[in-house]
Amino acid sequence: MNQKKPVVFLTRRLPESTETRMRELFDARLREEDTPLAHAELCAAVKTADVLVPTVTDRIDADVVAASGDQLKLIASFGTGVDHIDLAAAKARGITVTNTPGVLTEDTADVAMALMLAVPRRIAEGDKVARSGGWTGWAPTGMLGHRINGKRLGIVGMGRIGTAVARRARGFGLSIHYHNRKPVHSETEAELEATFWESLDQMLGRVDIVSVNCPHTPATSKLLTRKLLSMMQPSAYLVNTSRGEVIDEIALADLLASRQIAGAGLDVYENEPDITAALIGLPNVVLLPHIGSATIEGRLEMGDKVIINIQTFWDGHTPRDRVIEAML
Ligand code: 8YV
Repeated sequence: MNQKKPVVFLTRRLPESTETRMRELFDARLREEDTPLAHAELCAAVKTADVLVPTVTDRIDADVVAASGDQLKLIASFGTGVDHIDLAAAKARGITVTNTPGVLTEDTADVAMALMLAVPRRIAEGDKVARSGGWTGWAPTGMLGHRINGKRLGIVGMGRIGTAVARRARGFGLSIHYHNRKPVHSETEAELEATFWESLDQMLGRVDIVSVNCPHTPATSKLLTRKLLSMMQPSAYLVNTSRGEVIDEIALADLLASRQIAGAGLDVYENEPDITAALIGLPNVVLLPHIGSATIEGRLEMGDKVIINIQTFWDGHTPRDRVIEAML
């Protein structure tokens, strides 16, 4: 067992109790500011750290990995997605990568469901009207949206979060359709009465709401191209709580503007924190600032996972949340 405490560099501020525990257990290097680090600052940090704790706002590319000193052996990311880390470069340098899966599943599924309700029922628009001082009262034809009950939901990526979305959606009377690399376990399929679509384009043209729940990997990068998005029905809605990079954002904005897609609820964007300008002016979209997993409970559990991953690794064992590229 390793006697020395690892030097653990945190790129962002984490919940206070997580930082306190990190200080107790490790030689933790915490920052005062809570701003994303510049590339050069990341390169400097990995020169002396034994463990780097990045978040989605840090791009751990091959240059950062190459800049790391021999002592850097673990990248313990605070988050589930690992598309901000060059896994191949880390592997080649013998650096283990861990993430925090599982603890943000339900929170992210809640936000997907919230967007699925908010867009067809015009919740954000309604909020603006109610506050505007210009509301003239109830009207038989005022603020009409579309019914959720009885519609078809198409889930792109039926992993943990996709399945949690499906469970919620069933309670709202939606029928479940999904596209995945392979069908889910027959018990889950039976429980959800879910229909598997091998062909994504076939499914897109036949559902009323599309929920994107797959991770961003080389295989899913820009998966929803302009051509595929154009296959959606003009009455259909799209919700994305996964990663912006899975969708061609400019094409989506165009199709929403011309009402070839009825509406969209987005929590994630291709170039965060920038959002395609055309989306911002559209009345038929609800835009959130990447808050899918933003609950106090979730953040504390993510912090616990990071700590356990570091301690397990430092004690000489394989951390449970080790990321293996081939499994993504
Ligand atoms: C996290 C996320 O908050 O975990 C993920 O993959 O997208 C977020 O919801 C973020 O990654 C923290 O690093």
